[in-house]
Amino acid sequence: MHHSYSAGSPSDNAAMTTASSIERGVARAFGPASLSNLGPGFDTLGLCIDHAGDVVEASRCDDPGVRIVSIENDDGLLPTEAHRNTAAIAAKHVLDAASADFGLTLRITKGIPFGSGIGGSAASAVAGAWAANALLDEPLPKSDLVEAVITGEAAASGSRHGDNVLPALFGGLILTSSSDPTRYRRIELPRELSIAVLTPSIRILTREAREILPAQVALRDAVHNTSELAFLIDAFHAGDWETVGRCIMGDRLVEPVRATLIPIYDDVRRSALEAGAFGCAITGSGPAMFAICPGPVEAQSVLDAMLDACRRSGVESSGFVAHADGCGVRLLDE
Ligand code: HSE
Repeated sequence: MHHSYSAGSPSDNAAMTTASSIERGVARAFGPASLSNLGPGFDTLGLCIDHAGDVVEASRCDDPGVRIVSIENDDGLLPTEAHRNTAAIAAKHVLDAASADFGLTLRITKGIPFGSGIGGSAASAVAGAWAANALLDEPLPKSDLVEAVITGEAAASGSRHGDNVLPALFGGLILTSSSDPTRYRRIELPRELSIAVLTPSIRILTREAREILPAQVALRDAVHNTSELAFLIDAFHAGDWETVGRCIMGDRLVEPVRATLIPIYDDVRRSALEAGAFGCAITGSGPAMFAICPGPVEAQSVLDAMLDACRRSGVESSGFVAHADGCGVRLLDE
């Protein structure tokens, strides 16, 4: 069984935003989903994935500032006030940084369920920033939008972290500093990575999932996480997915606390491993979970096993098989 999101897949939009649409003052951007933390890399490591994302359409207007005209597929849950919405905040940041003499109206289409753990607020923030940027007289490179997207994401999560927005902006695997998220490094993946992504229909807000974390941790656990993260980065460099899978299960600081918010956590993890996954963990603040798999065929079997585990527990879930997206945010045709 194949589960996928319909909204906002870039493959549905073959061509890029045309020069003529930009000339008419309209730009549509696709912001991809991302997996963050990846086990021991809390606020430090994130991976851009294909298969899901949000779309933001920005239109130039004479009135200054940014206004949201519509949000689709959010079940009415996202704020439409521009100063509280990640896409609008990021877009406004871009306009302000460029001293633009125009404003924007935004139409947001969510392809990522609210509170799902696969970087929905980040996807909207990068799409908002990239669409706004395309309409500038002199668009900036992605590296100049880092502050805008981190600021946008902070509106949703209550903290400045880059492990979803930076992968969604640049694509690929991104290492970012937890104390200064504007400091980052892109890690090249040497070969294709297949991932089963499960999105249970439980809603967890990042802000709340951060508040339950301990202010202090044991030194031995911190040291354990540090060494697991070092092995994880090395394994990513090497394309050693078996070791990646083992390392993503090595978080002793955050995941054990957050697992208590996900009643199916143990069953899903066990089922994924029994079905052949190299490792399985929570992504971001959850409830989504992901499993590193030997290949795309195995990833489908692992996903089916994870979905079966949810079904047995009566928790409605969907999911998809994903790969790393090396591109990040991009413009779409109209
Ligand atoms: N690193 C973040 C967290 C990702 O786990 O809270 C979610 O935005």
